[in-house]
Amino acid sequence: MPDTVQVVFTPSGKRGQIAAGKSVLEAAQQLGVDLDTVCGGRGLCDRCQIDLSAGEFAKFGITSDPSHLSPPSAAEREFFGADAKPQRRLGCQAKLLGDAVIDIPPESQAHRQVVRKRADVHGITLGPAVRLHYAEVPEPNMHEPSGDLQRLLDALEFEWGLRDLHCDFHVLAALQPALREGKWKVTAAVHAERDVIGVWPGLKSEAFGVAVDVGSTTIAAHLCDLVSGEARAAGGRMNPQIRFGEDLMSRVSYAMMNPGGEADMTRAVREALQGLIEEVAGEAKVAPEDILDLVLVGNPVMHHLLLGINPVELGGAPFALATDAAVTARASDLELRVHPGARAYLLPCIAGHVGADAAAATLSEAPHAREEITLVVDVGTNAELVLGNSHRMVAASSPTGPAFEGAQISGGQRAAPGAIERVRIDRETLEPRFRVIGCEAWSDEKSFAENAQVTGICGSGIIEVIAELFLAGVIKSDGVIDGAAAEKSARVLPDGKTWCYLLHRDEKKKDSPLIRITQNDVRAIQLAKAALYAGARLLMDKLGIEKLERIRLAGAFGAHIDVKYAMVLGMIPDCELAHVTSAGNAAGAGAIITLLDKTARLEIEDTVRRIEKIETAIEPKFQEHFVDALAIPHKSAAYENLRKEVDLPAPSMGADGEASGRPRRRSRRRN
Ligand code: FES
Repeated sequence: MPDTVQVVFTPSGKRGQIAAGKSVLEAAQQLGVDLDTVCGGRGLCDRCQIDLSAGEFAKFGITSDPSHLSPPSAAEREFFGADAKPQRRLGCQAKLLGDAVIDIPPESQAHRQVVRKRADVHGITLGPAVRLHYAEVPEPNMHEPSGDLQRLLDALEFEWGLRDLHCDFHVLAALQPALREGKWKVTAAVHAERDVIGVWPGLKSEAFGVAVDVGSTTIAAHLCDLVSGEARAAGGRMNPQIRFGEDLMSRVSYAMMNPGGEADMTRAVREALQGLIEEVAGEAKVAPEDILDLVLVGNPVMHHLLLGINPVELGGAPFALATDAAVTARASDLELRVHPGARAYLLPCIAGHVGADAAAATLSEAPHAREEITLVVDVGTNAELVLGNSHRMVAASSPTGPAFEGAQISGGQRAAPGAIERVRIDRETLEPRFRVIGCEAWSDEKSFAENAQVTGICGSGIIEVIAELFLAGVIKSDGVIDGAAAEKSARVLPDGKTWCYLLHRDEKKKDSPLIRITQNDVRAIQLAKAALYAGARLLMDKLGIEKLERIRLAGAFGAHIDVKYAMVLGMIPDCELAHVTSAGNAAGAGAIITLLDKTARLEIEDTVRRIEKIETAIEPKFQEHFVDALAIPHKSAAYENLRKEVDLPAPSMGADGEASGRPRRRSRRRN
């Protein structure tokens, strides 16, 4: 056997001379190659699997052969059994006897890429805040009178290089039984390379975390395997705080008017969260005690209530947050019954109206890592807006009110089965056809009557119907429903001093709702969309730009809205339509990234610090932009990109007429 051998690792390309007889794992560690291990090279955890690439490698000047590794050990024979493939080995067991080319498969990389389907969003390199470390602890003896904990900490330092560790108090009670049951072999869970948060007898190779988006209407959770990075289960439930108030501001009011009301809301959201965690854990067949880390995002009011902070300061100017920094707490501090040492990390809030959910969406969409200027919009009862690129970022919220969610609309409802979500209007006859949530058929198809029950109209439906009425000439660019259209269609009806459009009435069904689009409905949408546009335009002013290169619409609203109609209404500034896309649940995605990759925590904390916060309420320009944006699509903006795709009617005068006036800030936002 030679003294040293030449080893080449792929795909990293790292290579070097290694003393013969060392294991592949030791060679990888010596050359800085990313090869996973939980058991520290004892043949117990199977995390270190490698493939030997056999053949002549002229490029490297070596011949690599299976005989250049030691024969399979007992641990390998037991692990691979009858399925053994000659090239697949455990890196900690295979000793180097000759030159070798070693391939590290993706699943054996400690910092592997977790697949995200789209290339234009933040990738995930696995590196959770909580990691498992197996250690063999020397037994106590009469000559070395140190405590069991000290010997565990020494072993973790010696075997894993973990220095200056602290230990959670609850671990002390579990330590001695674990050491003795495991015959002095234990697995420790270490948070942030600093705190020992759990200890188990023997080898433990599974740890889990949960990423949660706490919305004001729904709470959504993803349970992830912290060792493989795999998403194992997902679930959602209504936020029970709805019984204290539909929107966020009414919940803040509830806390103001009812002593102890904030505690009731905190209890309600924590109980729902506990139930949801147990549900996703049950689905993945994981014990809640194996959940060691949590990441939570939410708007500022949800963030405060979850932490048990009275949100009353967020109810009025200057909208002071208790903290805008990231928070790391123990899950037990939030009364969550998972592992007693589990940690909970809450992303930083950007400002009093722009929460940790917007920070998470920013992380996921990564405008701060791109050259092109991106606008990330999350629309709820307030719109949260983040604009910028790698050089500069600004953020604001805009008081859109709840009209986009179907509230304040005569036939409006939440997006739920039965709600009209798509509308088309014939330009000649003004006859509508529409689709409702829960039924694939359009209203003029035969199967519609059998399968659909119309209950109302939701946010995306109201946007489409108003945009279609505008394109059909029924609504003028100043937002007025034109009574002249009554000559064309009996659906345009007088409604007091104004006009309305009859979208749906099924005379054959006794309880069928009457769904009309009234002048007040159009006004409510005009006010909401003007606020949204004005917020975005204000941020563009701050950056000194006239054009947006990319717009990402986050949240449930962004997922359902048809971009073309949003643009026809002038909800967002003009942009090439192909570059305006849904970001899906970007806040939830940001929470998952933060759970699986601890470096993302530093990244978003740094990014949030750099974001310039703009308060629309004190910006005179906001009012100006708001008034100009009341017209459909806008009083003066050319909307050149939109005009390439859609024939827009000629503008009418007096677009800012009776709808003008500043909208009052109502509440924070979302789903
Ligand atoms: Fe655990 Fe090889 S490192 S089995």
